[in-house]
Amino acid sequence: MTRLHVNIDHIATLRQARGVNYPDPVFGVPVVEMAGASGITVHLREDRRHICDRDVELIRATVSTVMNLEMAASRDIIDVAKRIRPHMCTLVPEKREERTTEGGLRVADDPARMADVVAELKDAGMRVSLFVDPDEREIDASLRAGAQTVELHTGDYCEASSDEARALELEKLAHCARFAHQLGLDVAAGHGLHYHNVGPVARISQIHELNIGHAIIARAVFAGLDAAVRQMLDAMGKK
Ligand code: PXP
Repeated sequence: MTRLHVNIDHIATLRQARGVNYPDPVFGVPVVEMAGASGITVHLREDRRHICDRDVELIRATVSTVMNLEMAASRDIIDVAKRIRPHMCTLVPEKREERTTEGGLRVADDPARMADVVAELKDAGMRVSLFVDPDEREIDASLRAGAQTVELHTGDYCEASSDEARALELEKLAHCARFAHQLGLDVAAGHGLHYHNVGPVARISQIHELNIGHAIIARAVFAGLDAAVRQMLDAMGKK
């Protein structure tokens, strides 16, 4: 069964909307874990628009599954990661003006720079994942850069405007998951996944982990966080 890592950034988004100290994403960690998730994902953005340094410190100290830190390959954030030492770092592209991560890293454009960052994080004891589009060239470059995992970007699959387009995007994900697995990489996936589109991605056998955030936190407003996580686990297992 594919593991679910819940991205809890948007608990912090709600907090930051008012500049108060609630809801606290740190309180979400045991709830998500007790509901059956296998890990906690947070994105420490350079502008600290939702998750803050204090959150990553407390989450690292209290997590009982694994902590996956999504981050840009920037000096400031690399230094935070080395101090906090999450179990896994996922490098993502980051633009200040974007609403959320848009597209995967362009690893193939500058593999040497990426290799330096990957090596620095691995030397500090963390596993490193690279968030890439489902594209053989990027997966191959990720391997050469030293990554242990690739996270395949599911955005195009989620945003496909017809059944035919969605089927093509799903085939691309399945093909790239097999390709990455054959190269010896662990394979994760995520971005934009929802209760109604997660099933086919969760059934790609080479994908061992999904990172899902917005849909779960949005459902939690009405159903509660425990139920929202359990319902996502059900949706992942649905035939
Ligand atoms: N994976 C990565 C690399 C991401 O940047 C994000 C968004 O922070 C997610 C997964 C989760 O995306 P969503 O919130 O759309 O489920």
